Amino acid sequence: MATRTQAEVTELQESALEHLWVYLREPSDMAEKGEPQIFVEGKGCKVTDALGNTYIDGMSGLWLKNVGYGRTEIADAAYAQMLKLTYMPMGTTSEPTIKLAEKVASITPGDLTRCFFTSGGSEANETAMKLSRAYFKRTGEPTRTKFISRKGSYHGATFGTLALGGSQYFPKEDYEPLLAGVFHAPQPLPYHCEYGGTTPEECAELCIKAIEDIILFQGPSTIAAVVAEPISSPMGAAVPGPNYWPLLRELCDRYGCLLIADEVITGFGRTGKMFACEHWNVTPDIMTVAKGITSGYIPMGGAITRKIISDAFVGSSKAAFRHVITFGGHPVASAAALRNIQILEDEHMADNAAVMGDRLLEGLNDLKDKHKIIGDVRGLGLLCGVELVKDRATKEHFPAEADLGARLTQGFADNGILLRGGDAMNVAPPLCVTPGEIDEILSVMDRVIGQAAHELGAE
Ligand SMILES: Cc1ncc(COP(=O)(O)O)c(C=O)c1O
Repeated sequence: MATRTQAEVTELQESALEHLWVYLREPSDMAEKGEPQIFVEGKGCKVTDALGNTYIDGMSGLWLKNVGYGRTEIADAAYAQMLKLTYMPMGTTSEPTIKLAEKVASITPGDLTRCFFTSGGSEANETAMKLSRAYFKRTGEPTRTKFISRKGSYHGATFGTLALGGSQYFPKEDYEPLLAGVFHAPQPLPYHCEYGGTTPEECAELCIKAIEDIILFQGPSTIAAVVAEPISSPMGAAVPGPNYWPLLRELCDRYGCLLIADEVITGFGRTGKMFACEHWNVTPDIMTVAKGITSGYIPMGGAITRKIISDAFVGSSKAAFRHVITFGGHPVASAAALRNIQILEDEHMADNAAVMGDRLLEGLNDLKDKHKIIGDVRGLGLLCGVELVKDRATKEHFPAEADLGARLTQGFADNGILLRGGDAMNVAPPLCVTPGEIDEILSVMDRVIGQAAHELGAE
């Protein structure tokens, strides 16, 4: 059912084109395409735009609609809290915020027990970076100030986190100079192992060795932390070899630096376990979260620290962690997060992500057998990646003139699926996805990728 007439939609679009930055979009491009598209409603995995077109959201918004759209229980919890208390006096906290911190401590691995809440993922990573440096200042190693992250990763939009990132899709040149003292190791993506590893395990070992080389070259006593997503998304679900995370943990322990796991995308059930680090039995020193903590019903994030880290900030007013984010731990966001986590648990959504993820990965592998422009398929749970290539032998991507990304995105949308096309695509529907919806996504991908291959003469 259309909720707006075409004339009303056009008026809203013109206003948006005049007054709004739509992220990752440029106004004249949107104007030419009759965009921005305006969404008004969602239920489960489906979203409906203002003209009444309904789609399966194959990307969960931005990897965040974990419990799906339209869960009135979360709205009710937020509303009930809003009627009671919407902020607290300075230097105090609220009941739902305490309960959420306790809940997060109980579901995160190992002794990750204290949470600093933020409004989103960039702030969570920024908090983790500041915590790392401050921790070493408190514990007598003030020269530990540098960070190591990986090429191809994304950790946020602020100056510090942008410096950590290494993705071509989020170029830095407009904003330089960024934070100094950040060094980039290779991404442990077996399909493109920078160091020539021929198996996921060998690639992992070589990529860990590259981090060790940076540590040794810079001097171990200068490194504060290694920051990494368990599975990085900009390159399309870069699932590392199973030895990567245990080796990374061991490496950080050996050289005394902290390990920060950015679980902003992977946390809260996405990969088939509550947190991706659990796949490898690794406890990071700091874990950052956002997105799925509220399934995007309201902004929230957090940096959770192991007891040994948090204890360095306890004991005197001088020891305190001097850092404030006004909306971190907002009572309404906390109430929504608590209800969201309850739904994830009660409805076994991480288990569903594991089962549906297997179905999706198997289907994507079938598509790879059928379409030779699919060079690689990878994933864990409902975090899957598909890489498209012009030539399987060289792994060369299509040239920009082929306009593969836009061609695919439009083709998927015309067939009722929201997915962003490109050389490396992500497929990450909400964790409540059904077998029928997975099959629908696969069947549309089959048709649209087949059509694109035909048009590009690459069948
Ligand atoms: C892995 C990862 N870390 C951090 C962020 C930044 O989160 P936010 O956009 O909420 O600041 C993102 C955002 O997509 C992300 O994917």
